[in-house]
Amino acid sequence: MDMEITSKRLYLRRRDFLKLGAGATLLGSAAAMARKATHGPKLPGAKPNPKYLADGEKPTPFDDVTSYNNFYELGTDKGDPSANAAALQTRPWTVEVTGEVGKPKKWDLDEILKTFPAEERVYRMRCVEGWSMVIPWDGFPLGDLLKKAEPTSRAKYVAFESAVQPGMPGVKGYAGIPFPYLEGLRLDEAMHPLALLAVGLYGEALPNQDGAPIRLVVPWKYGFKSAKSIVRISLRETQPTTTWNQYGGGVEYGFYANVNPEVDHPRWSQAKERRIGELLRRKTLPFNGYPEVASLYAGMDLRKFY
Ligand code: MTE
Repeated sequence: MDMEITSKRLYLRRRDFLKLGAGATLLGSAAAMARKATHGPKLPGAKPNPKYLADGEKPTPFDDVTSYNNFYELGTDKGDPSANAAALQTRPWTVEVTGEVGKPKKWDLDEILKTFPAEERVYRMRCVEGWSMVIPWDGFPLGDLLKKAEPTSRAKYVAFESAVQPGMPGVKGYAGIPFPYLEGLRLDEAMHPLALLAVGLYGEALPNQDGAPIRLVVPWKYGFKSAKSIVRISLRETQPTTTWNQYGGGVEYGFYANVNPEVDHPRWSQAKERRIGELLRRKTLPFNGYPEVASLYAGMDLRKFY
């Protein structure tokens, strides 16, 4: 495997995206129109939680949310995950909660759905590449699942692992990153009420391209922290290795990855973002507009721990 060529390919792709700017946004919506997303089964009874309305911002259309995706296991272009959605098998599905816990358990997805009723929360989503969306998720707090596992006093971090299935086209060759896709949070971040496990969006079961059947959503962090199609959650004493943290010598994508307009990516500014569907770029907000999480980082230098 030639790391230099593959990282260059990835670099060029991201650079082209940034250069294209508005053009890419238009292409994105054109693609969405050409490939009308199919609607899945309804999620019964996911009531809107009035605490989480993204300050009244208009949700990004369903077709954009489900046709403009990053999900490297299903391909590296924005339209690949929806085109290859059928390659992900979401039943049967289990999520193992393990590690530094008193009660490890391999949950069947249907038991998760029964035990933790989903509610609707509208969150902003800001990708590290400089685009953003507003998405009405259906899900439940990650902390509810973690509490059931009874974390030990040694548990300080939570590691997330995404599925790897033989039918996924992206995992066959080298997509620029290794699989399984790994992510992680500090335990107190994971227990924050905003951290969500999503099982649906727009009142429907999660479309495969958006990380079915269950994914993480951490709205104050760059989108890459929100691991899709999760099969394992393990509590750890030490900071877990993450996929993007290993990329680019560890300086490109930090472990914390809190949205911060003042800390540029080494190759581009993070001061502004393009909301999918809008032409003019808007200012990026600290913590993506969720200042209630700031106390988690009291005393930390957010330039160093980006
Ligand atoms: N999870 C997995 N397993 N694989 C991925 O490639 N991409 C991440 C994140 N989770 C990714 C992933 C990135 S970079 C972003 S921006 C979001 O998923 C995109 O989520 P969306 O396609 O539902 O908008």
